[in-house]
Amino acid sequence: TTDKPWGGRFSEPTDAFVERFTASVDFDKRLYFHDIQGSMAHATMLAEVGVLTDAEKEQIIAGLTEIREEIEAGAFAWSVKLEDVHMNIEARLTSKIGITGKKLHTGRSRNDQVATDIRLYLRDEIDVICAELSRLQTGLIALAEQEADTIMPGFTHLQTAQPVTFGHHLLAWNEMLERDFGRIQDCRKRVNIMPLGAAALAGTTYPIDRTITAKLLNFTCPSENSLDSVSDRDFAIEFSAAASLLMTHLSRFSEELILWTSAQFNFIDLPDRFCTGSSIMPQKKNPDVPELVRGKTGRVTGHLISLLTLMKAQPLAYNKDNQEDKEPLFDVIDTLKGCLKAYADMVPAIEPKRDSMREAAKRGFSTATDLADYLVVKGMPFRDAHEVVGKAVGYGVQTGKDLSDMTLQELQQFSDIIADDVFDVLTLEGSVNARDHIGGTAPAQVRQAAQRARTKLTAR
Ligand code: ARG
Repeated sequence: TTDKPWGGRFSEPTDAFVERFTASVDFDKRLYFHDIQGSMAHATMLAEVGVLTDAEKEQIIAGLTEIREEIEAGAFAWSVKLEDVHMNIEARLTSKIGITGKKLHTGRSRNDQVATDIRLYLRDEIDVICAELSRLQTGLIALAEQEADTIMPGFTHLQTAQPVTFGHHLLAWNEMLERDFGRIQDCRKRVNIMPLGAAALAGTTYPIDRTITAKLLNFTCPSENSLDSVSDRDFAIEFSAAASLLMTHLSRFSEELILWTSAQFNFIDLPDRFCTGSSIMPQKKNPDVPELVRGKTGRVTGHLISLLTLMKAQPLAYNKDNQEDKEPLFDVIDTLKGCLKAYADMVPAIEPKRDSMREAAKRGFSTATDLADYLVVKGMPFRDAHEVVGKAVGYGVQTGKDLSDMTLQELQQFSDIIADDVFDVLTLEGSVNARDHIGGTAPAQVRQAAQRARTKLTAR
C-alpha cells in the first residue's frame, strides 16, 4: 500500500516523474469553488436518503466551508502528490474532521465529480461572458444610433461599392454578436445537465436521489446515461465552437478598426488609452487592442481543434485523456473574457471622423448604381442602364470628376433621358435615403433597427 487515496493495491510508490506527469492540480485547482459546491450538494443528498447522518452532513459542510475560506485566503497547501483538486480537498477534509471526511466520496467517483465541476464552472463563466457580451452590444447599438446619419463608403472586394451609413455598418456587427449570444445560450442548456450520480461509469449501489442533487445545484435535470455522463465533453467543444465563432466576428471587427484608424482610411480614431506607441518611431499610435484580439482568435480556434482531437478516438467511458480538456477550455474562457472586456470598454470610445468618411464615400463613384436605377425608373432596361452609367464613370475617371460633379449637359452625353432631377439621386443622402426598407441602410431604417436591437437586448 502507498500514501495515495487509491493506494491499497499498490506495492511501490509512484515514480516521481509520473506523479508530476499525471497530476492536474496546478490547473484544475481553479475548480475548487465548484468542487466544493458539488460536494456539499452530494453530502446533503446522501443525508436525505439516509446514507449519511445529519450530524455527518453538518460536519462535512462545515469542514468544506472552512476549506473554501482557506483556499480563498491563499492558506491552502496544494499538493501535487494528491494529484488533483478533488483529492486535495478530500484529503484536507479528512485531516480536519477525521473519519467522517472519508465518507464524502460514498456513491461518487472523481469521474462524475469532475464532469460536474466543469459544468458548474462553465455555466457560471457563460453567465459572466454573456453579461459582458450584452455590455458590448449596448455600446455598439448606442454608437450606431448616434451615427445613423453618418455616411461612409460601403465596400465589396474592399473596393468602394455604394454609400452606407456608419450606423448601419455598426449594426451589422451587432447582428453577428446577437447570433453569438444565442449560440452560447443554446449551448448553456446542454451544459446545464447533471452528471453527478453516474459515479465511475455505471451508477452506484447506494439509494441516491439524483433529482435532489440536481435541484440543489440548479441543474435542469440529471443526465440520462451514466457511461455518457462521465465520458463525453461535447458541451465543452460546443462552447469552444461558439466562442471560436464569436472570436472570428471580433477578429473581423478588429480588422476593420485597424484599417479605419490608418492614415489611408482615416475613418475613425481610437482614444490614446486603447493604443500604444513605438519605441523607435515617434509618430506611431498603434491599434494594439484590435490587433491582439485578431491575434487571439487563432488560439481560441486552436483550442477547439485540440478538444475535438482529444475526443475523437476515446472508447467509452472515462479515460485519463479527458484531463486534457481543462487547459484548452480554461484558456478559451479567459481569452474570450479578456477580448470582450476590451471591446465593451473600447467600442463606445470610437471617435468617428465623419468628414473624412463622407469624402471617401464621394470618391469611387459610389452612387453609380443609383444613376442606373434612375434610368430604369425612366424606362430603360437595367442592362442598358448599367452600360450607360459605365460609360459615364469612364468619363469621370478620365476627367477626375465624380458623377455628382458633372453638369447636366455632361451627363446627357450618355443618355438624353437624364433630366434635372438626376441630382437628387446622385447625392450621398439621396442614395442612402432611397434604401428605405427593413434591413436597408436609410437613416430612418437604422434608427428603427437600433430600437429593435435594444428591445431584444433588454428582454434578455
Ligand atoms: N483529474 C481528473 C480529470 O481531470 C479527475 C478524474 C480522474 N479520474 C480517474 N479515474 N483517474 O479528469
